[in-house]
Amino acid sequence: MTRVDLLARMMFAEALVREAGQLALDMRANPLGVETKGPRDFATAADKAVEKLIVARLTERFGDAVLGEEFGGEITGGTLWIVDPIDGTYNYAHGNPRWCVSLGFLVDGVPTLGLIFAPEARQLYLARTGGGATLNNRPLSVSRPAMGSAPLVEIGASSRRSIDDYLGTVRRLMEAGIETRRCGSGALGVAQVATGETDGYVEHHINAWDVAAGLVVAREAGAVANDFFAGDGIRTGNPILVATPWLADRLSSLALPDVPWRPATG
Ligand code: IPD
Ligand code: CA
Repeated sequence: MTRVDLLARMMFAEALVREAGQLALDMRANPLGVETKGPRDFATAADKAVEKLIVARLTERFGDAVLGEEFGGEITGGTLWIVDPIDGTYNYAHGNPRWCVSLGFLVDGVPTLGLIFAPEARQLYLARTGGGATLNNRPLSVSRPAMGSAPLVEIGASSRRSIDDYLGTVRRLMEAGIETRRCGSGALGVAQVATGETDGYVEHHINAWDVAAGLVVAREAGAVANDFFAGDGIRTGNPILVATPWLADRLSSLALPDVPWRPATG
């Protein structure tokens, strides 16, 4: 794919995440149909409407393959968009402003573009592999080792893994003097490593649509991440660990002791 083709997609996708975010905002004013997908997992009518909008626009404009959280999609080689229409659905449905639209773009399996729009916070994260990462046009860079005496890490959780997995990680980190958070959006959690607001994000299992965009944002800001797309990561998800370089090894051994630490290179 040429640089021109890539930049055309970035420009189009930037307008699209804004449009999608506005649709989600508009729909929240009305009563939401809620569909339970599993324990502590559901989708609102807005999740579905936003994904339909994004898939239709991308398919019409570029003809690329699209994989979404709500409707899936065929994964082919070459170009692939990975869409989370609303990441942080629990927050969204409760009126908590921490949610976002997340769009990642892979070329031949390599995470290449990342766009995250958090409408209520008016935050737009953009990143292109090799081209840097920005938040509202401001270049991003991970936290510095000066924070080493007071690390802050977000630990995500879902019903896809046991409560004990989550609590064990919280315990080990807190016992090691690492402060922890859980804020309800994996995409924003990973993106916040890029801003230096946290020093790491970790979760025992997460899906590709939650982190495809955030991984590009975080790595372009200097973060280290595990090889999330290894194996069948796109289809079935994997553990995720993203951290500022000075914390990565220590965080890996404390948070995910059973997961071999393989930083992504591509
Ligand atoms: C969830 C959020 C949450 C993370 C879960 C995800 P959803 O996505 O990103 O923070 O811990 O693993 O499933 O359900 O809000 O789209
Ligand atoms: Ca999600």
